Amino acid sequence: MLSRTAIIALFASAATAATVAVQASNYGDVTYYTPGLGACGQYNTDTDYIVAVAAGTFDNYPGATSNPNNNPICGKQIKVNYQGKSVTVTVVDRCAGCAGAADLDLSPTAFSQLANESVGRLYNAEWDYV
Ligand SMILES: *[C@@H]1O[C@H](CO)[C@@H](O)[C@H](O)[C@H]1NC(C)=O
Repeated sequence: MLSRTAIIALFASAATAATVAVQASNYGDVTYYTPGLGACGQYNTDTDYIVAVAAGTFDNYPGATSNPNNNPICGKQIKVNYQGKSVTVTVVDRCAGCAGAADLDLSPTAFSQLANESVGRLYNAEWDYV
């Protein structure tokens, strides 16, 4: 039989492991824009599954330097979930107009997978790096 203390210790270590394994999601507003030459240095169009992340997220991403083309966030994939729908997009740009640090600006086609473009802004959508 395990002592009461040993059982508590087991629960404590299991809880710690779970905390380490679960990555916190990000919540932000989602809008869409007309892509062109992005901060990552490549051109994209309305129908590409791409995203511009908020300037703060872009600039503070680990490894970011003064040359945005070399930002390690470029090419990362993000899965956005909103009201039972989801879309996976690739980071290609920096959104200077995004007010919230976790706001995302999608291509029109990517946005359309989550809601009608006429909605314009999706509040508090959940997202994570894939
Ligand atoms: C999107 O909204 C517009 C305007 O309300 C509507 O005319 C159109 O049919 C909608 N499109 C879809 C795919 O629901």
